Amino acid sequence: MSTPRPAAVLVLAAGEGTRMRSTTPKVLHQIGGVPLVGHAIRAARATGAQHVGVVVRHHRDRVAELCTTLDDRLVIADQDEVKGTARAVECGLGALPADLSGTVLVTYGDVPLLTGDTLLELTAAHLETGSAVSVVTARSADPTGYGRVVRDENGRVEQIVEHKDATEAQRAITEINSGIYAFDISVLREALAAVGTDNAQGEKYLTDVVALARAAGRPVRAHVLDDLWQTEGVNDRVQLAALGRELNRRICEGHMRAGVTIVDPETTWIDVDVTIGQDTTVLPGTQLLGATSVGADALIGPEVTLTDTEVGNSAKVSRAVANLAVIGPGATVGPYSYLRPGTRLGARGKIGGFVETKNAEIGEGAKVPHLSYAGDVTIGEGANIGAGTIFANYDGVAKHHSTVGKHSFIGSNAVVVSPVHLGDGTYVAAGSAVISDVDPGQIAVARGRQRNVDGWVARARPGTATAAAAAAAAAAEQARSRHPGSDPTTPPEGTEQ
Ligand code: UD1
Ligand code: CA
Repeated sequence: MSTPRPAAVLVLAAGEGTRMRSTTPKVLHQIGGVPLVGHAIRAARATGAQHVGVVVRHHRDRVAELCTTLDDRLVIADQDEVKGTARAVECGLGALPADLSGTVLVTYGDVPLLTGDTLLELTAAHLETGSAVSVVTARSADPTGYGRVVRDENGRVEQIVEHKDATEAQRAITEINSGIYAFDISVLREALAAVGTDNAQGEKYLTDVVALARAAGRPVRAHVLDDLWQTEGVNDRVQLAALGRELNRRICEGHMRAGVTIVDPETTWIDVDVTIGQDTTVLPGTQLLGATSVGADALIGPEVTLTDTEVGNSAKVSRAVANLAVIGPGATVGPYSYLRPGTRLGARGKIGGFVETKNAEIGEGAKVPHLSYAGDVTIGEGANIGAGTIFANYDGVAKHHSTVGKHSFIGSNAVVVSPVHLGDGTYVAAGSAVISDVDPGQIAVARGRQRNVDGWVARARPGTATAAAAAAAAAAEQARSRHPGSDPTTPPEGTEQ
């Protein structure tokens, strides 16, 4: 038997959200890398409903635009100046086909932990019990502010009373209305027409539909949820943080159950869309954000922030920041590396300590191990870029690109002034400023030749400890039999890791 799908889901997001004290509309604040309303839309979509509508009013254009970016099949429904959740639903229904029948679900744009599975369970139970209205309720230790579920002597739901309208006795009820419902569309339409504004807030309450449906002899039931978190809404930034932490706890738990070791879930933050392969270990203080994907058997952390970054199997990344980068399988990054957009590190390649890269294609097994800037460069496989090498890509006006051929070797502290093409199998002497192309097999030496001036220390720095050390060394040298010093030719003093 296939799971029954609702015909439509309406997400209410027209409210003001003043307690956020923000110029950003409440439902656009994020947890887990997704705006609150995005979570609600995802849950709604996950039901497989044919129509998903979002009811907007406050910050209408910003909210509508964001929602359509997240899901271009959404129906945007505008609420008018009449206030209240019932009016929001009326306006939402107005934007759906007039002949729609079946089940419509109502959810809130500021309730981010509600899942599609819960909505499907709600739909199934609603249909199985032949209910006209199913209201999702929960037991809350602190029901203040919520609508209370009033049941009759047989335990059947009679009505929902808003906190502001409730008597002392009703306020003692701990079963709360989550604000999530399943309705038979025709019953909902009929009841909405009868909802008034005679209440403490002068608004059209959706909760009135419960009593109206009951009075019309329609079956009404409560769908009690044990998982309170799924019913919690965000009203202020304290709740935003609390729900963000709980979402993160759930995400981390999901990855751990799927075979990822997370040493400290409390300090590990993983966005909803991140994927991580089996047997990868995530060390404390790590943030995996946006569309980041990490392969299997990798080691990430401690203190790594990856945004929209792809990490291959068995790669190791420690104390690094990467944004829109690709780290190949078996590659090593960090500690203290900064990978900016367009960095593509090949398999088994290395980006080491205090290295910044941007728009840099670094080939298989190639290494940029220490203290370098590699911007706008293509580095061939097996090449080694010496410590302190800078690719000077910016001339003050425009950015230029350089290439380093396969298995080439750049000596320490070179500056490659782009655009320059270094062929395959080339060398650059340490300390060189390279401004023109180098052909395969050549070494580029672009620096002042070394000149040693005899007796300089004694003449220019007499009486210093340095002069004394030089004099002592000269005396010792004289005392020994004279050896001709070996001629120091100039090997490119590159560095190996
Ligand atoms: C509502 C319920 C209450 C329930 C609580 C759960 C009513 C009358 N009360 O109260 O029983 O316990 O939710 O959180 O329904 N909205 C609109 N248009 C409006 C008003 C609200 O779209 O005119 C949207 C809001 O953006 C929000 C949701 O509806 O997403 C709930 O609105 P809110 O004002 O927070 O309702 P509560 O007073 O908390
Ligand atoms: Ca609320």
